[in-house]
Amino acid sequence: MTRRIHLNAFDMTCAGHQSPGLWRHPDDRSHTFHDLRYWTDLAQLLERGGFTSLFVADVVGLYDVYRGGPESAIRDGIQVPVGDPTLAVSAMAAVTEKLGFGITVSLTYEKPYAFARRFSTLDHFTGGRVAWNVVTSYLESAARNLGLEVQVPHDRRYDVADEFMEVVYQLWEASWDDDAVLLDRDKGVYTDPAKVRPIDHHGEFFDVPGIGLTEPSAQRTPTIFQAGASPRGVAFAARHAEGVFVTAATPETLAPRVATLRRTAAEQGRDPASVKVFALLTVVTAATDAEAGDKYEDLRRYVSLEGALTLYGGWSGLDLSTLDPDEPLRFAETDAIRSAVEQFTTADPTREWTPRDIAEHIGIGGMGAVVVGGPQTVADEMARWVDVADVDGFNLAYAITPGSFSDVVEFVVPELRRRGLLPDEPEGATLREHLYGSGHARALPDHPAAVHARR
Ligand SMILES: Cc1cc2nc3c(=O)[nH]c(=O)nc-3n(C[C@H](O)[C@H](O)[C@H](O)COP(=O)(O)O)c2cc1C
Repeated sequence: MTRRIHLNAFDMTCAGHQSPGLWRHPDDRSHTFHDLRYWTDLAQLLERGGFTSLFVADVVGLYDVYRGGPESAIRDGIQVPVGDPTLAVSAMAAVTEKLGFGITVSLTYEKPYAFARRFSTLDHFTGGRVAWNVVTSYLESAARNLGLEVQVPHDRRYDVADEFMEVVYQLWEASWDDDAVLLDRDKGVYTDPAKVRPIDHHGEFFDVPGIGLTEPSAQRTPTIFQAGASPRGVAFAARHAEGVFVTAATPETLAPRVATLRRTAAEQGRDPASVKVFALLTVVTAATDAEAGDKYEDLRRYVSLEGALTLYGGWSGLDLSTLDPDEPLRFAETDAIRSAVEQFTTADPTREWTPRDIAEHIGIGGMGAVVVGGPQTVADEMARWVDVADVDGFNLAYAITPGSFSDVVEFVVPELRRRGLLPDEPEGATLREHLYGSGHARALPDHPAAVHARR
């Protein structure tokens, strides 16, 4: 039987996110991302639809691999202009009660001490509804503008990341007792100094001797999201991630990867079921299959194939303009997202992908699959992904926003609820409880953050 399905909405503080060119569609509002109302309206829509969280992607660089420069990214609006992903969260939290917020921040360009304070503050302001999507970046253009000549090599980024996590876990979990803040007006004691301690961390990459700057928030450690897909990335995700974002063209090609991820989590002493896996999916839906098909044909007219190859250049590190558009792509190791190369080379031995195929696939919803159909068709397909690939839910990209999300809420959510696959609202008050049930606001005992826990 199909288990309960979690829905996350996938967005970014830019236009067109994973659907290059679709900002030209008359119904698309993604170019209003600078308007706070876009975000507060979206948050309320998703909450009505029982979504677990809004997942906000981020890059701090330009997609300048395709044709060797940033012109196509700038002209086509490919994830630029791009705003900071954290700043709308408090406003969205103020107009919602349940919705979680999965926010991407690249630790490669952060200091753990200041970062821990920022996310702890967000966890306070949201009442424990924030997740950190841990990324290490993939764009050389980000590295160049943030003080590095080139990116830190792929696997080395994850070594830095492991230590970064240790530091922030200690700051969030070990530095302050739950009852450290006394607010004792009679004695004039705000915080009991005996209940706050320095973490005294001295490692290979970071030295953080002092105390954390924030008192414990509802979750203490924000819920941890991640999307590692390479062997080193999977090891990192299996150790730290509570939600893992995955991308595949079919559930059949995804299934062995999810099995590896869960097995690796078990080898690290974690309950494999506590790693919640969300597959990237774009849903084009309407009242009937036929109407959804018409909608899809209409959307496709706005796809920018140049924009798609620009996106893919950033993700993969490969400039496909140098290849014959009809020559199948061959695997190459890069310092960008390795799985972005694998997906179109080695992941499915029965299928070859040319640059033209890749551009067309990415055109709507990026590297994930697209499902087109009425409520029954979409719900059937979601259930099939859950059963075949052993995923816990979906990370829904949009073709147009908020239209793709409001269509899911109008047509698909009632059908999922009718089948008992989606509750009216997520369980518990905090995001971690949405994933693990009421009473689990704090890191589970088998999670590496819990080693440092002071309760
Ligand atoms: C659905 C999804 C969303 C992602 N979002 C971001 C993002 O917003 N920013 C980022 O730098 N990387 C993002 N990534 C890339 C991952 O952080 C990671 O680099 C990628 O999954 C490949 O894993 P690997 O680094 O182990 O090869 C995302 C990946 C997936 C699958």
